[in-house]
Amino acid sequence: MKNKPVVVLNYPFDPRVIAIELAPFAKVIIASRPEKLRKALRGADAFVSLLSTPVNAALLSDAPKLKVVSNFAVGIDNIDFKACKERGIRVCNTPRVLTRSTAELTLTLLLAVARRVPEGELLCRKGNFLGWAPDLLLGLELKGRRAVIVGKGRIGSEVARLFRGLGLKIDFITRSDSPSAVHSKLKSAQVLSLHIPYKKENYHWLNSKRISHLPRDAIVLNTARGPLIDEKALIRALKNRNIFGAGLDVFEREPRIPTALRKLKNVVLLPHLGSATYETREAMARAAITGAIKILGGKRPWNEVRFS
Ligand code: DGY
Repeated sequence: MKNKPVVVLNYPFDPRVIAIELAPFAKVIIASRPEKLRKALRGADAFVSLLSTPVNAALLSDAPKLKVVSNFAVGIDNIDFKACKERGIRVCNTPRVLTRSTAELTLTLLLAVARRVPEGELLCRKGNFLGWAPDLLLGLELKGRRAVIVGKGRIGSEVARLFRGLGLKIDFITRSDSPSAVHSKLKSAQVLSLHIPYKKENYHWLNSKRISHLPRDAIVLNTARGPLIDEKALIRALKNRNIFGAGLDVFEREPRIPTALRKLKNVVLLPHLGSATYETREAMARAAITGAIKILGGKRPWNEVRFS
């Protein structure tokens, strides 16, 4: 036990994965609360972090021996890369394993918004379903509509595959699009789905100006990161019925969800569930933990993030 490296887990991840992939090779400390985490990091060789923990210079200064931070997420916007690089700390994340679950949740949101599923469900639960009616909770049919997917990475491409199955016509917005190309794609976006990482330059990618280009029957979907959308501008557009609706799995100041958003009927809200399947969460735990162990063993894991 004496020579085993110390691996601090930010959460009690899948116990089977810990037992098989981690416990034989490391001393494991689980530290969720900030005070316990700061104390545990003093002796840590590796830290398996949650996306809700900012891994910044202040946190790293409490971890003098740290060699690797392995994020239990594909998104790495909670990690200060410059601070890690300066300290020679390597970084891993969990790409690929959550592509399908996130794409499936995006599809779930699209169908829920288009067919007003939560409104119908609530009506039934409240005992307000008084019988079939020709104009009860009418929604949108999706076949033949144009979906614009922002980002052509793994998740954006998988979402496109699923949307094509519904008969949607697909277009992508990528970094190489000129402002006028983005403008004209937004004008035809009856579904707009965001699948880009959150970085400073993507802050409020969907701002009030871009929202104003969307058609009135547009559905906006976000299963990426909250700050990609100017939430206040989106609320205004939803309130004024400038767009049909939105499906949001992430929020600008998570876990805070503005009251104004919670009051709107034309938005479906989920608590950051994109990767929340049994299969994916087990695979994420395995990827994050084995990535850290490999680095401690002097190897280069497949999921190491390269510093640019
Ligand atoms: C991620 O991995 O970045 C998601 O937001 C959580 O699975």
